[in-house]
Amino acid sequence: MINNNVMLVEGNRLFLEQLSNVIKETESVTLVARFRDAKDALGQGMVFTPNIILLDADTPNIMNLLAEFRRVYPHADIICTGEKWSAESSSLYVNAGAKCFLVKPFSSEELLDAIYSINKNVSASNNAKIVTFFSPKGKSGKTTLIANLAMAISRTANATVGIIDADLQFGDMAFFFNLKPQSTIVEAARDTDFLSPVTLNTYFVSVDKNVSVLCGTKNPSFIDKVSISSLEAIINMARSMFQYVLIDVPAGFNPTSIAAAENSDITFVVSMLNGGYEVQHIQRALDIFTTWPDYQRRVKVILTRVEPCTEKSQQEMQEAIGYPVAGIIPNAYLDVATAADDGRMALDLKPNSTLSQQITLLAELLTTN
Ligand SMILES: Nc1ncnc2c1ncn2[C@@H]1O[C@H](COP(=O)(O)OP(=O)(O)OP(=O)(O)O)[C@@H](O)[C@H]1O
Ligand SMILES: [Mg+2]
Repeated sequence: MINNNVMLVEGNRLFLEQLSNVIKETESVTLVARFRDAKDALGQGMVFTPNIILLDADTPNIMNLLAEFRRVYPHADIICTGEKWSAESSSLYVNAGAKCFLVKPFSSEELLDAIYSINKNVSASNNAKIVTFFSPKGKSGKTTLIANLAMAISRTANATVGIIDADLQFGDMAFFFNLKPQSTIVEAARDTDFLSPVTLNTYFVSVDKNVSVLCGTKNPSFIDKVSISSLEAIINMARSMFQYVLIDVPAGFNPTSIAAAENSDITFVVSMLNGGYEVQHIQRALDIFTTWPDYQRRVKVILTRVEPCTEKSQQEMQEAIGYPVAGIIPNAYLDVATAADDGRMALDLKPNSTLSQQITLLAELLTTN
């Protein structure tokens, strides 16, 4: 393992002591220098050749300091540290050359996660495409779609995908991937005040080289533990953790689905054709979304269990609904059920099926627009 030479710049005396101890205890990391005054670090730190600089972002004039540190230490990675993460300030720091942001006080594990994410070149920019999957009614096939689509995005675009299971009472993404998560959206929501994107990452479970899942609550009563503001904070942080974020929400209009949709770049309205009133449900849902001035760009319709799954059916449904249909998914009950039973993706079991082709088309739609 490479050794990391860390220089700590920390204005607060207590934090300076506390963080020094954490760094000293961290394996594969050496504290080579520490300064309370950033000016001293700029003037005297060079002889210690740090390759990582932990820079106190709660210092006045931090933006100018960042530029100075970049100039004096062009080969070091700068991690900003502060008492609270915010999307706005953190993206300013990253634009000014910081690699990521850590909330103080951090643990050895969090420091290593930050260093690891820098080395892996995890994008700290703020530009994930956030996609919410809304359905007027339950059992629309949206959880199945999200899981398969995440894999398809990973495969076709080699892009990173975070899945957030915000179906707060009966989320089943964890069952879908056969996961027994140590932490879920409940713990993430509890901790949002102390988290930054680097540390939130540890609450996600990786299911593929590019795909991670923030699992849903383990008990329906835990819904009370995830406030709308904490959900929004999680979505906001996820924006700088992945290239795509797919959010599963409870069926129907409710505070959770509305908040997720409002914080999304795209909202898919997903409905399973059952020979019932789906067309009317979709139209009524679309009516509500039309209050967004840019709804035509942001709201897209996906129909599942479309038989026959052809362009002609898509065209007919489009006319019946009076709104473009962005994607159609065939009836593939056997494929999705067999796959779900052994925690695999239908996409992997039958890569050439119509189901896989349609999901891949949707992945291309998302990643090329
Ligand atoms: N394309 C499909 N064709 C046929 N059946 C499907 C399809 N996709 C999913 N299903 C089946 O429909 C049921 C519901 O699927 P899924 O759990 O993905 O829907 P959901 O909208 O997330 O439901 P919930 O409202 O329970 O969250 C499951 O039994 C699943 O196997
Ligand atoms: Mg579901």
